[in-house]
Amino acid sequence: MTTETQTASRRRASFHNLTVAEVRRLTDDAIEVTFGVPAELAGQYDYLPGQYVALRTTLPDDNGEPHEVRRSYSICAEPRSFEDGSSEIRVAIKKDLGGIFSTWANAELKAGDVLDVMSPQGAFISRHGKDGSSVQHNVMNSMNHPEELAGEPGSFVAIAAGSGITPVIAIARTLLAANPETRFDLVYANKAAMDVMFLEELADLKDKYPSRLALHHVLSREQRIAPLMTGRIDSEKLQALLSSAIRSEDVDEWFLCGPFELVQLCRDTLAARGVEPEHVRFELFTTGRPDRPEGNAGRPVVEDESQDTFKITFTLDGLTGDVASPTHARESILNAALRVRPDVPFACAGGVCGTCRAKLITGTVTMDENYALEQDELDKGYVLTCQSHPTSEEVTVDFDV
Ligand code: FES
Repeated sequence: MTTETQTASRRRASFHNLTVAEVRRLTDDAIEVTFGVPAELAGQYDYLPGQYVALRTTLPDDNGEPHEVRRSYSICAEPRSFEDGSSEIRVAIKKDLGGIFSTWANAELKAGDVLDVMSPQGAFISRHGKDGSSVQHNVMNSMNHPEELAGEPGSFVAIAAGSGITPVIAIARTLLAANPETRFDLVYANKAAMDVMFLEELADLKDKYPSRLALHHVLSREQRIAPLMTGRIDSEKLQALLSSAIRSEDVDEWFLCGPFELVQLCRDTLAARGVEPEHVRFELFTTGRPDRPEGNAGRPVVEDESQDTFKITFTLDGLTGDVASPTHARESILNAALRVRPDVPFACAGGVCGTCRAKLITGTVTMDENYALEQDELDKGYVLTCQSHPTSEEVTVDFDV
């Protein structure tokens, strides 16, 4: 990964008010939301295809009390900038069952509304390219003309389910435009045709690259002509897809995006077929752990001087502070830090997005879940603060490095 790519994918997260320019309905329960980014903020909102933004607003909770809600959504379009220096961010928001934010957005959000939008984050990006540099990094230097880029040709396969198509469509468009020899196979799983997001855009992409893009829609609750394209993707179907429908040999990068079970099945299956993990990028919607709901961060902890506490010291934006965390509370470092610094970065609070990453400087922690950090980051001492609990009396972390 190049320095530039690391910078773009690990930039300090910060929120700004952005205005909704357009809301477009994609399916009965999904919308595409376009935020206008003014020229003075454009530098903070450039991104690599595959990254996401967190959205923040205040909505009434079950008791009618105002409650801060944050959710992260993948960016669904390749980067664009306009002559006046402004740019835009497009995300797709699919209504989750019982999801406060997604239900509200699908019903209420409209052009002119203002939301807090975090600067783009995430490492679900292509690392394929000349000299180990990213083709997508080159795209950032020529945002409006990706077809003019001479990226190294590549062979890519993506397996996406439901709204997992959102980052994948941005990645596919970019990589296909970057080199005239690049090939992209996309398996897209949904329940039924009416659930397929970006149906027209995918068809247009296929028309644009008829011989280089192979598009396979798999529908679990609708009969398709090919039996292989009908039904849930389980181990048997995945093996069959890999053996017959898609080119699975000499693939430069695999992109997996969907619910935990599907992504895990694909990762295990690819590993068993000898695919090296460094060729596989994946992104999860959720941890798949209902006992750890997303957004459960910043809950109040009552401090009592008679109790044993951990001392958590943290540095953020050059400022160092500390907070005492009662040992019995078993709160995460993120939760503790949020009590004294509300600007500590986080998005999913579920170990998925990596926004809360910090480096452990002293002390020890135990981390519950990790779907975001790669082994080299773990080896360097990085932790997900939303998942990390102190196991030594004193712990120091640094969000700035
Ligand atoms: S906030 Fe997403 S991994 Fe911690």
